[in-house]
Amino acid sequence: MIVVIAALVYDAVQLIGENTKKQPVAEAGSTVETEKPEEASSTVSPSPVTNSLNQEADGNWYVNADPLLIIANKTYKLADGYAPADLVEVPDPRCSSGCEMRAVTAEAWNEMKTAASKEGITLTYSSSFRDEAYQASLYNSYVARDGSTESADRYSSRPGYSDHQTGLAIDIMSASDPAADLNAEAYENTEEGQWLLENAWKYGFVLRYPKGKEDITGYEYESWHYRYIGKEYAEAVHEAGENESMEEFFGFRGGVNYPD
Ligand code: DAL
Ligand code: ZN
Repeated sequence: MIVVIAALVYDAVQLIGENTKKQPVAEAGSTVETEKPEEASSTVSPSPVTNSLNQEADGNWYVNADPLLIIANKTYKLADGYAPADLVEVPDPRCSSGCEMRAVTAEAWNEMKTAASKEGITLTYSSSFRDEAYQASLYNSYVARDGSTESADRYSSRPGYSDHQTGLAIDIMSASDPAADLNAEAYENTEEGQWLLENAWKYGFVLRYPKGKEDITGYEYESWHYRYIGKEYAEAVHEAGENESMEEFFGFRGGVNYPD
């Protein structure tokens, strides 16, 4: 028994040592969050649980070194050219490009779709994994349309910073009222939007850009953009309260500004 406890303590010390060894890269503009969680952001409240954000060997940032908690926002850039290794095609009548997602996302998506359809709700999607080149073309088209980066930056990520590049994000559309698609308030009030707000967490999804959190997440409210983080974490985020953002729950830095 004593030997077992001693071994566990030894493992814990090794893990702590491992975490403190990894230093963030300068361009990410961050310190290791666990050292000073209260400084994660002036607008982000401290997380109710202990989480640590670290840059792992692949160059990406992960909460608790969990592969499902890979982070992309305006502060944390993905590794250059990152693409998940386990992308699978997920055909959908509404999807014409960006129609792959990570295998874990696809499994959860299919489970959620099946559950929704039993309640008469048809879930359909327009975009999941987007590589850097595709994200660049989207972002550039919005900049050209709006005439400024300032406007596009409020709703579209620059390449390398998009949640879509993780393969864990899905833009879910409305089969019952397609006119509401990509309109945050209108989509929220569709039967699909309402069903997702109530049920998505049960399948491991959270709303990535909740209402009223633009200063924290860096983006306007997107009632259609769901992010897979696994059932346990999604339930905890759901329990933390309505409109809880990943930045707030996990206590990592967000914000509307890019480091450069
Ligand atoms: N619309 C989200 C923020 C993206 O472009 O990744
Ligand atoms: Zn999206």
